[in-house]
Amino acid sequence: MHIEQEVIDCIQNARRVCILTGAGVSAESGIATFRDAKEGKGLWSQYDPQQLASIDGFLKDPQTVWQWYQWRRDVNKDKQPNPAHLAIAQWQKRTQQNGNQLVSLITQNVDGLHQKAGSNPVTELHGNIWRNHCLQCGQTHHGSVERIEQVPECQHCGGQVRPSVVWFGEALPEQAWREAESAAYSCDLFLSVGTSSQVYPAAGLAALAKSQGAKVIEINPEPTSSPVVDYQIEGKAGILLPILF
Ligand code: OAD
Repeated sequence: MHIEQEVIDCIQNARRVCILTGAGVSAESGIATFRDAKEGKGLWSQYDPQQLASIDGFLKDPQTVWQWYQWRRDVNKDKQPNPAHLAIAQWQKRTQQNGNQLVSLITQNVDGLHQKAGSNPVTELHGNIWRNHCLQCGQTHHGSVERIEQVPECQHCGGQVRPSVVWFGEALPEQAWREAESAAYSCDLFLSVGTSSQVYPAAGLAALAKSQGAKVIEINPEPTSSPVVDYQIEGKAGILLPILF
């Protein structure tokens, strides 16, 4: 695996790094990506996301949407972080200890594997599949929902409990978006790992970083057509990130 010296220098000399991860960083943990055309078994190739991962879909048929998320939680509950998650967590920890770089981790993933690998803080742009809240009053729904087949009732207002995942057509959590924008705006290196860069506003963060003079590196076995990428490193995150870090 040849990695250009310029890329190594870029990473070593960066003072403020913004890492944006997508489903590809969890692929080697056995979690299906959404659009992995190559394998043809991306999640979205089997289901209509608008029907299942949208507020309209939930309002139309809360039971089906709830059970789809229960299925996704069940198939993913024993998944473990892979070397990509671990490399990022170690990089974050090391730089927090020696203070030579500021590393911000922004993820589009909802699987919680960055936290499981020891990353902290993690900015979750699209929420977290292990959390639930009330659709009506917004209160966090505490307590396990494991094997609960019916849509739970909010203990606070009697409303419908839903997964705390951002659905199509919904705004991103304000605080998370502010953190992501600020990290992209102020970084001198933007590392895009395992994302098809198709879903906005997350996909716009690289361009924001670039507009402020940052270098943009993309790690993906299938390079995207993103015009702002300076260095495309073709390969799997679980192989490349341990080498890079
Ligand atoms: P996608 O499924 O759109 O893209 C996954 C990317 O990961 C593809 O470009 C793959 O080539 C790449 N990939 C696959 N295996 C990889 C590996 N081992 N290492 C590195 N890259 C790999 O997933 P996202 O871009 O994350 O939104 O999708 C963005 C959002 O669309 C998701 O957060 C989700 C979906 O709607 C919500 O859930 C709100």
